[in-house]
Amino acid sequence: MPPQPAAAAAPTAPAQARSATAPTDLATSVLRRPLPVNGPLDGIVPDVERHILEPVVADIARLKQERNAVVLAHNYMTPDIFYGVADLRGDSLQLARMAAETDAEVIVMAGVHFMAETAKIISPDKTVLIPDPRAGCSLADSITGADVRQLRERYPGVPVVTYVNTSAEVKAESDITCTSSNALRIVESLGTDRVLFLPDRYLGSWVAGQTDVEVITWDGACEVHERFTGAELDALRVEDPSIQIIAHPECPPDVLDAADYVGSTSQMTAWLATNRPERVVMVTECSMADNVAEEAPDTEFVRPCNMCPHMKRITLHNIRTALEDLTHRVEVAPEIAERARRAVDAMLRAS
Ligand code: 13P
Ligand code: SF4
Repeated sequence: MPPQPAAAAAPTAPAQARSATAPTDLATSVLRRPLPVNGPLDGIVPDVERHILEPVVADIARLKQERNAVVLAHNYMTPDIFYGVADLRGDSLQLARMAAETDAEVIVMAGVHFMAETAKIISPDKTVLIPDPRAGCSLADSITGADVRQLRERYPGVPVVTYVNTSAEVKAESDITCTSSNALRIVESLGTDRVLFLPDRYLGSWVAGQTDVEVITWDGACEVHERFTGAELDALRVEDPSIQIIAHPECPPDVLDAADYVGSTSQMTAWLATNRPERVVMVTECSMADNVAEEAPDTEFVRPCNMCPHMKRITLHNIRTALEDLTHRVEVAPEIAERARRAVDAMLRAS
């Protein structure tokens, strides 16, 4: 049975897009790492793995040239992908912007399916590949286009703001999309008293806590972030009162209440670069801390973290196969893509 709309929630900076060759803000900071001496993965993975993976990295570099391709990598990719083969890295909003601006003919999305679909919606003439089409998302699975149509009947005239973690079909039924880095701004940009905010109930309630707009949420959640608890963070604070806690807004409210900072994956990275804490807990997917730790040698990263099984389906080996065979192509039916593009373009204009 599909999740039912939750009750109306009580009123509880992204990098610039660049061409395929220009570095993102995050990539610029990556360049500050000392140049690897023994190969691209030197210091990134243990030597025994490095010897196995570096030939795959070299194949991918060659194939990218041959195919005029770029690899866009989400911040949750493992360090071998993030540092070894990604041309552009970032959070969901940054990936969408990069997909819009790259000159490459082929985009390999090292991320989950909705990210690849968003890239295809924005760039219909490009070949967009996802190395493993099973890389899904519990939020995207929590709602269908028919659900949105029913909500529109129940709440006539109320605009629909949809998190990008959704299918193209759901985006096509929406007025505007948002990501975790711009959700509040997008909700307020509409100038209405109420919005339907789909499908993440926790992101929705986090936005509701910062605005006078009434935010009506759906009952979706991220299977990775909903597992964190405020109690586990309180225990860490008791152990070390100076510890800094930064969390993704897909976490439950008690976790966000316990956090010193809440932001998208790239906003968390930027916060760390500015604040340079001695000890930090990144309450999000595990690879995030692995990647950022490379650039923050003076910060101790304290776990817990949770693994996203969907993101972890993407590997160096299936990125190579994707480029070799030009698989798996992501396609969106033109009539759905056109309506979905309106919602994504509205977000890009408003952010
Ligand atoms: P960001 O937009 O913050 O990168 O989040 C995407 C995501 O899937 C987090 O779970
Ligand atoms: Fe989806 Fe959560 Fe995985 Fe992000 S971490 S892709 S929201 S399941």
